[in-house]
Amino acid sequence: MITEFGLSQWTETPDSSAQSSMIDALENGHVLLFKSLPFQLEPHEKKFLTPEIINTPKRKNISYNLNNKDMKGCENPAVAQMMDRFSNSASQLINNLFPHYKNHIKTGRTSYRPVEIATRAPLSGSKDDRLLHVDAFPATPVAGKRILRVFSNIHPNHGTRDWRLGKSFAEAMEKFIPQISKPLPGIRTLKKLFKITRGYQTLYDYYMLNLHNTMKADENYQRKYPDIYALPSQSTWIVFTDAAPHAAMGGQFLLEQTFYLPPENMAFPERSPLKRLEKFLNTPLV
Ligand code: SIN
Ligand code: FE
Repeated sequence: MITEFGLSQWTETPDSSAQSSMIDALENGHVLLFKSLPFQLEPHEKKFLTPEIINTPKRKNISYNLNNKDMKGCENPAVAQMMDRFSNSASQLINNLFPHYKNHIKTGRTSYRPVEIATRAPLSGSKDDRLLHVDAFPATPVAGKRILRVFSNIHPNHGTRDWRLGKSFAEAMEKFIPQISKPLPGIRTLKKLFKITRGYQTLYDYYMLNLHNTMKADENYQRKYPDIYALPSQSTWIVFTDAAPHAAMGGQFLLEQTFYLPPENMAFPERSPLKRLEKFLNTPLV
């Protein structure tokens, strides 16, 4: 579900009643769409609007770390500067909109995605983000932390980012979690030992990753949600991608900033995938 809000400045702080509606919608798994909140490129940055800006074969994005300024997929310092600016704008936006999260939210990586999605060669099923899924990282366990993302469509010629959206986390959980078998004893310790995962894969991460894969593999579920939501160029949206089933069907030139939030610091922690899964499976998962 998409809920629109009329914000037009990255530095704007909404009044407290608008803040309450935003956090309620966000934690309910809605996409918060700001149609008149563009991330503006500097004139000299327009030349970065080409897939050729990526200098590493097979990569589909440039990844940047605000904390240590490390960039992957490109060596141009001016690209790092653009991503740094986006990262700071996204942090400012999150702090203004969700003061509740302040002091608890951590900034993750920034990504720039200049490759057209629709015509990209098909990837192996579980890697294809054109299939509805909730985000879960195979190599990076989050131990229940929420994945919050800010997206800005920076397409220069009115190109939309085309997403499909599923109904809800609860629906996906109730349908798919019973199909997932318990992990084999010892396997998650081995994954850590052999550095298949960065750190220990908690039961939460195990179920989320399997949920991600099982959703993508279910053709009936995929067919159930054909509607395309065209997210306009020069717009920005925010969503907990670990809870909102989403699929990116088409579009080019996107900036994305990831944040991590402990579920206990949500306004409504009981709506977190961690709490929902623990209740559904009747067992602690972290
Ligand atoms: C995704 O998170 O699945 C991809 C989103 C996008 O690139 O539009
Ligand atoms: Fe995703």
